[in-house]
Amino acid sequence: MTQIEAKVSESRNIAAEPDLAARLLGGEVIVARQALESSGVFREMLDDSIAAVREHMGSEMTATILEAGFERVHEIVPADQIPAMTEAVYRVIEAKAPAYLSRLMPALFGDRSFYFETAPNVRFHIPYDSARQHAGLYSTFAKKRGEGKLTAHGPHRDSWLDCPDNGVNIWIAFGRVRKGNGLTIFIKENGQTQNYTEKGSVADDVALSQPETFDLEPGDCILFHTDQLHGSELNRTNETRFVISFRVTLDKPHFPREHHHSYEYSGLAKGPFRPLATLPAILQPSFATSAFRRAVRRLAGRSGRPVTSKTIGPVPTVFADQLADGKIQPIDANNCVARLSDGSIVAFARRCPHEGADLANGFMSDGQIVCPWHNVPFDPVSGGSPCAALKVRMKSCKTLEDGRVVIAGEAKAAA
Ligand code: FES
Ligand SMILES: [Fe+2]
Repeated sequence: MTQIEAKVSESRNIAAEPDLAARLLGGEVIVARQALESSGVFREMLDDSIAAVREHMGSEMTATILEAGFERVHEIVPADQIPAMTEAVYRVIEAKAPAYLSRLMPALFGDRSFYFETAPNVRFHIPYDSARQHAGLYSTFAKKRGEGKLTAHGPHRDSWLDCPDNGVNIWIAFGRVRKGNGLTIFIKENGQTQNYTEKGSVADDVALSQPETFDLEPGDCILFHTDQLHGSELNRTNETRFVISFRVTLDKPHFPREHHHSYEYSGLAKGPFRPLATLPAILQPSFATSAFRRAVRRLAGRSGRPVTSKTIGPVPTVFADQLADGKIQPIDANNCVARLSDGSIVAFARRCPHEGADLANGFMSDGQIVCPWHNVPFDPVSGGSPCAALKVRMKSCKTLEDGRVVIAGEAKAAA
């Protein structure tokens, strides 16, 4: 990404924003309020989604959802039926993507051709405490449709998942989105972090700064470069968030790694020529080299992404007088310490109880220990979090006469 200025800005009239494409491709993140209203696309996509839910879940349940709001979906639809309901919405949104985008894109970028990913992303992200009861089912869904739809996705650049590196994400709220169940964008890491895992998420040893998070109302959307480091918050609220997002490129999609996501050219995507619409993106060398590499790897039984281990290197001694307020520091391979604003030092296990992120790479915010991967805050005294199932193990620590901070043993389990 050519860097212009990595910042977040708000727009109440996105159609009037100058140089929108250049700003987004340069790293600006734009929160566009009520962006789709004028094109009528929002209403149509919402109606189509509701019709798909009705067809799948029946009129009575759909009426209850509409009365209560999408935020209450997890209280109305049994958690084990959310994947099938999401699939039903996927089918209609995918079929009509060219029609939606043919109106949405001119409203954003003016009258020009573009490319879009054939499969948009439909995201019903229910509270973690409800979703975890069906973790197996949700991870099966994630294998087919990718992380970040029903499950939280760790920090990543889309090109780590073999998407183009010249794209724009259009992330549209169809229900309310709250800080605590939304998107994270790591503005400060813009262009720097490049180590990632086989799953296409940031590597275990990468320290991250506090990401930007957003409150959105239905009809608001976030526009950002596909290679901006971003991810999802683990849903720690008591609301379901319903979002649909598109990935588009304004020029031919450029695949820096593998090329197997299907992109359609807008000039062919409407009408009877749609079956040919993927050809312009396919006709480039990356498609052939990628197909060849994949075939070789399949024969050799290898995956294409780098595999990073969880090996932790030597940990420097922590001295109490060097531990700044609000700073987390690893103290050994298994534990961290942090200084709180009252001057006390707390110790806790390094691995996050959710998916094992190294909390030494996290940060303190509002007096809480925050996990770098899915932004869950943990209380530095009890270890508890807003998710009932997630609690960090707190330890006892002491400062020796020479100023070294050491672990003194397991703390009593907090009540
Ligand atoms: S919240 Fe997901 S790994 Fe910590
Ligand atoms: Fe992404």
